Amino acid sequence: MPSNFNRAIAVFGAYGHTGRFVVERLRMRGWRPRLCGRDAARLQAMAGHTHADDVRVASIADAASLDAALAGCAALLNCAGPFGETCEPLIAAALRAGIHYLDTAAEQQPVLAAFERCDAAANEAGIAVVPAMAFYGGLGDLLATAAMDDWAQADSVEIAVALDRWHPTAGTRITGARNTAKRLVIEDGRLVEVADPAASRDWAFPEPFGTQAVAAVPMSEIALVSRHLRTRTATAYLDRGSLRDVRDADTPAPVAADASGRSAQVFAIEARVRRGGDARRLGACGRDIYAVTAPLLVEAMERVLDGRCRGSGVLAAGAAFDAADFLQALAPESLRLYPGEA
Ligand SMILES: NC(=O)c1ccc[n+]([C@@H]2O[C@H](COP(=O)([O-])OP(=O)(O)OC[C@H]3O[C@@H](n4cnc5c(N)ncnc54)[C@H](OP(=O)(O)O)[C@@H]3O)[C@@H](O)[C@H]2O)c1
Repeated sequence: MPSNFNRAIAVFGAYGHTGRFVVERLRMRGWRPRLCGRDAARLQAMAGHTHADDVRVASIADAASLDAALAGCAALLNCAGPFGETCEPLIAAALRAGIHYLDTAAEQQPVLAAFERCDAAANEAGIAVVPAMAFYGGLGDLLATAAMDDWAQADSVEIAVALDRWHPTAGTRITGARNTAKRLVIEDGRLVEVADPAASRDWAFPEPFGTQAVAAVPMSEIALVSRHLRTRTATAYLDRGSLRDVRDADTPAPVAADASGRSAQVFAIEARVRRGGDARRLGACGRDIYAVTAPLLVEAMERVLDGRCRGSGVLAAGAAFDAADFLQALAPESLRLYPGEA
């Protein structure tokens, strides 16, 4: 990365669980995170704790405060969910500021709304808007895109996730509770509501997970796939144990297991694509679905800023980046890819 780059990056929702990992990752990569959010006291507490000197209080209800917060930054990373509430005003603010925008949405609807409502304006401004650049969303889309490789189309795309446990954060719980939109899958090449009850099946994951019962719980990855991969069907699954965890009000929030704040929670996420009698698969294993979102988001931001992004407008991860190269860049430090090469 050239040293004359503007290295100031606005992180909205900086003091949230995911925002903290993102701020730390930016620092580690030599960027200057600007801590942004609506709660002055929490921002100041974080600034004191992390010795940050660039802090802005801003609210999605106050466009002028957002404009002041983004002034002089090269990009906006939105880590504040529910994204049904924050996406639209923050993409609008990024467009006014003329800077790139990336977020970590797991919900499908704000991602689809971004494609529908913001693509033309972002294209005209030459700005990249990359929604759902996170564990749920961008990672599954990158794996599916890399698994497709030279196929122009597929009969099916499936993405499955296994977690040893899902310890949800407060933000995950609030987002889940407010996300009342019907979940969508792709059938006959179109987005349709997922069947009720959701389709269930067994999925063979690598150890330590082994074969797990999974249920169709599509998240933002299906919204991304729908925008750039040609497939007759696409769905996404989550292991049933994690589904029970996240639905149980008593499941505790994640607990740091090391100095970086990462929990001990582990994951596998796998994409399988089929065309005729041929099948391909690509998976990734790692630790802590919240923590791993930081290298995914920051890698995407760096590729947008240094020109390794295909065009402008609202972009799915797999359409924006060379998927195999992107995944390889995060291995093995943040992800372990299987089987073999990406
Ligand atoms: N796709 C993925 O894989 C993935 C991964 C990680 C996180 N996420 C998503 O990211 C979001 C945050 O998760 P988290 O674990 O970081 O939760 P968290 O620790 O509860 O943090 C949420 C952050 O968002 C801010 N926020 C929420 N609503 C806001 C609003 N209307 N205006 C301004 N700020 C607002 C909160 O600020 P206040 O405290 O002031 O409310 C806080 O800073 C959730 O939607 C979660 O689903 C997705």
